[in-house]
Parts: sequence; C-alpha cells; structure tokens
Amino acid sequence: MKYLVTSATGDLAGRAVKHLKNFVPVSDIVVTVRSEEKAGTFRKQGLEVRIADFLDKESLVKAFQGINRVLFVSSNDLATRKQQHQNVVEALKEAGVEFVVYTSAPNAQNSTLIVAPDHKLTEQLIMESGLDYGFARNNWYLENETFMLKAVKNGAPFTYSAGEGRVCYALKEDYAEAAARILAGVAPKQTIYELGGELITYEQLAQIASKAIGREVETASVSDEEYVKALVDLGLPPEAAQSSVIVQKDIRNGLLDVPSDDLEKVLGRKTTPFDEFIRAL
Ligand SMILES: NC(=O)c1ccc[n+]([C@@H]2O[C@H](COP(=O)([O-])OP(=O)(O)OC[C@H]3O[C@@H](n4cnc5c(N)ncnc54)[C@H](OP(=O)(O)O)[C@@H]3O)[C@@H](O)[C@H]2O)c1
Repeated sequence: MKYLVTSATGDLAGRAVKHLKNFVPVSDIVVTVRSEEKAGTFRKQGLEVRIADFLDKESLVKAFQGINRVLFVSSNDLATRKQQHQNVVEALKEAGVEFVVYTSAPNAQNSTLIVAPDHKLTEQLIMESGLDYGFARNNWYLENETFMLKAVKNGAPFTYSAGEGRVCYALKEDYAEAAARILAGVAPKQTIYELGGELITYEQLAQIASKAIGREVETASVSDEEYVKALVDLGLPPEAAQSSVIVQKDIRNGLLDVPSDDLEKVLGRKTTPFDEFIRAL
C-alpha cells in the first residue's frame, strides 16, 4: 500500500507526514514537492519524493502513479486555487488512486465563508470523480490568532469585532494528526469529518489566554472599523487587516459555529489544550 501526501513543504502537510510515520511503514510513504530544491529534507528522512506542481496536471498524473491513498492538502494560492484543485482531482482519477483525504472547510457545501467556494467546488469534483474519499473539513487553526495573541502578551487588549460569534479552534498539529489517521485508515470511516475543537467565543479565548499567561487579559469588543484600525496600529499591514475583518464578519455570522466531536473521535483522545502554544508565543 502506498500513501502520498501532497506539497509536503506546507506546515499542515509536513506535520501530517510526521504523524503518518506512526501508522504506516516509512517505505510506503511518498511526498510531493514543487521543485527538486525542496526535496532534500524529505529524502534525508528516507521518504520517496516526487516533483509535482498543482498547476501542471501531467506532473501530478506522473506523481500519483502506483499510489493507493492520497492526502490532498488544499493550496494556499487563492488566485489559481480552483484550477489547481481541478488538476489534482483529474490527475488522481487518471492515475487510478483509490482514496483521497481532502482538507476542506467547515460545512463546505452550504457555507458562505470567504474561503468556502474553492472547497465546495473541490469537494464536488471529488464526489463526481468516483474516488473513495474523506473530507477533513478543518475548522479554524488557533495559529490564525497568533498576531493578536502575541499583541495581547505584549499588553494590548484582546480586540475583536466578531461579537459573540463562536469558533471551533484546534491546533494545526491536531488537524495534521487527524489527516494522517484518516489517510492511514486508522480513524472511523466517514465521508465527511467536521474537525474542530470546543466551540468558543473570543471572550472565552481571552480567558484561556489569561490562564495561560497568568494574568487577566483585557478584552475589547469593537466595530469592524475599529478592529481594522487596532490591527494597523499594532503593526499589521492594512491589506492584511482588511482580510482579517472579513473573517471577523464570517465568525460573527456563525460560519465557523460548526460543533462536532469528529476530531476527538479521529484522534481517539481530547484535543490538545491551548495553554502551551500560547505560552510559547
Ligand atoms: N483552517 C484554517 O484555519 C486554515 C488557515 C489557513 C489556511 N488553510 C488552508 O489549509 C492549507 C494548509 O495549511 P498550511 O498552514 O499548511 O499552509 P502552508 O504552510 O501555507 O502550505 C501551503 C502549501 O501549498 C503549496 N502550494 C501552493 N501552490 C502550489 C502549487 N501550485 N502546487 C503545489 N503546491 C502548492 C505550498 O507549496 P510551496 O511550499 O512549494 O510554496 C505549500 O506547501 C492552506 O494551503 C489553506 O488552503 C486553512
């Protein structure tokens, strides 16, 4: 049985490869990277490396030859993502891959989340392809809050405009382990996994941060305009601040309020608490 993880240079994919080694022999693991220069670190680990770019379908068809199960981690290139993902799904089919785990978004088929359209399309292409699949619909990474959490540790109030909106944060490491378990077939078999941690508001995240850093964290629930200004004042480039506020609106509108115990079931344990991550920032 051969297992392949796409774009192993990515943070989630790299962590998934590390976990996959606990479930299947290293000699059965293949990874793709975009160029020869990126192959070295993986070859040193004894992994077979193949070169493939999501924009080059033929490279993907070649890379997927002889592979049974693939972890397809969504691309971070939003401008061309739909085309990239279409290429991947076509290549999976042409190469005769049996099973794909695709890292998707919460409630992807019905969500109006800013990032949902690409995931909805990719899921549909996979469903139409006839491949066996598992959609690892990752809720939000706690790591997405790194900028604000660092600012808070430096004395800023925990500022948000998402109101009482709730998010099922979990650490990337847990999502990565879950993806590896689904790929290896050591997780309960489902077609859709809504993966995430406990549902919390920003106020609750601030309380978790307070406990982690050992002092009361002040919070500021503000308007979208005030939120953008606060981020820019803290040093975030205006474009990034504008992108962040779109997510705040989505959270306020309940688009990440997708509670599920799928992540705990897949991991076979409670999700990792956030204290250590916050303390280490
Ligand atoms: N749930 C969430 O909170 C959340 C937050 C952010 C992102 N995401 C999604 O989750 C994915 C994984 O997260 P991450 O933190 O691991 O992202 P990441 O570290 O930015 O990794 C993204 C990967 O996409 C690869 N990629 C980009 N264009 C490609 C192409 N044309 N062909 C092949 N590979 C290509 C990159 O390859 P190179 O290393 O060669 O550039 C990189 O390996 C992201 O890509 C995004 O779709 C989810």
